[in-house]
Amino acid sequence: MPSTSGMKPGGFYDSHSDTQGAAIDAFLPWLVEAIGELPIPPTGGPPLTLLDLGSSQGKNAIRAMRGLAEAIRRRTESPAWVLFSDLPTNDFNRLFANLFPHGPGSTPALGEGVFAAAVAGSAYGLIVPPASLHVATSFNMIGWLDALPHARLPRYLLATGPSARGDRSAVTDEEREPFRRQAASDLRRFYRARAGELVPDGKLLIQVFGRDEANDRSASDGIYDVLSAALLDLVDDGTLPAEVYEDLIFPLYFRTTRELVEPIESEPDLASAFRVDRAETVETPVPFNAELERDGGHGEWARRFTGFLRAFTEPVVAAAIPTNLAAEEILASLYRRVETRLEEDPDRYEFRFISVGALLTRLG
Ligand SMILES: C[S@@+](CC[C@H](N)C(=O)[O-])C[C@H]1O[C@@H](n2cnc3c(N)ncnc32)[C@H](O)[C@@H]1O
Repeated sequence: MPSTSGMKPGGFYDSHSDTQGAAIDAFLPWLVEAIGELPIPPTGGPPLTLLDLGSSQGKNAIRAMRGLAEAIRRRTESPAWVLFSDLPTNDFNRLFANLFPHGPGSTPALGEGVFAAAVAGSAYGLIVPPASLHVATSFNMIGWLDALPHARLPRYLLATGPSARGDRSAVTDEEREPFRRQAASDLRRFYRARAGELVPDGKLLIQVFGRDEANDRSASDGIYDVLSAALLDLVDDGTLPAEVYEDLIFPLYFRTTRELVEPIESEPDLASAFRVDRAETVETPVPFNAELERDGGHGEWARRFTGFLRAFTEPVVAAAIPTNLAAEEILASLYRRVETRLEEDPDRYEFRFISVGALLTRLG
């Protein structure tokens, strides 16, 4: 059973994810450039097929795939498939609405001759038939664990740990270890599934929120510190039982670039299936941080930061609230606390988007 139900639905993620969009923009050119080397199927053969994994409600995913479709159009006029995939619990209605912005019957947002479809399933298994795929992409997705390990983190919400060790928040190396192992095993399954799906010379681009070991920075810094502090506020004022905090674990792992490519080097079947063309850690721009440079911009920064973190954290927090409590009210008050804390102490919750990414080629 997947460890998440997806992003906050109804278009909320779409409206609060320009930070993820900026990270995609930083990595997509790697793949656009590589489209020049892509094997183009002969006219009349099976169509060129692209798959995006973890597309969510589609705004960022469709924009990225449109960029790729344009690059492909420069090589061939033949029809192509673009497949969008996510967990079955994803808000696919919103994805289809984004694909047809001018209403049903209009051409999809990807351009002439580019056909779109959605597939539900987990990226840690096969999504399309073997050897049917030319390009696979995955943005801001493979940090989500396939399943939570049997482990506890009673003094924090996330295995990566807080950005600063405090009296009430800490994660030990022993506590982190089961999450590291789960993430490593997920990644091997992800690569094996893509190795099965991609044709020889097919391309795989991965970008995901991560960690820069050298600079001791993680894309989780700030976000989970403020969420943790706001949850503890609700425990302290009696709104939430302490066990809700102690039992709550975000099914996420923030990898380094080293960890991202490690299975390709250490697993013989993956080493013979893939070549790593490029792998890097990049600090990508955070649009809402620009507010901090504006006089009096802290309020707007706090508001936009809160929307950004709410879009991907609310479904996980909501699932942890006992059914006898008024979840909607609690969530509203939690994210109000988050916003207030951010506005009062912006330096304490500095957020920088550390992305890790890799471009791989399927070997023949
Ligand atoms: C932060 S969103 C990223 C959306 C989009 N790719 C972007 O970059 O804006 C992460 C997405 O990954 C999806 N996801 C999480 N685990 C997944 C899995 N095992 N298989 C497929 N999608 C998954 C979530 O449902 C969510 O829609």
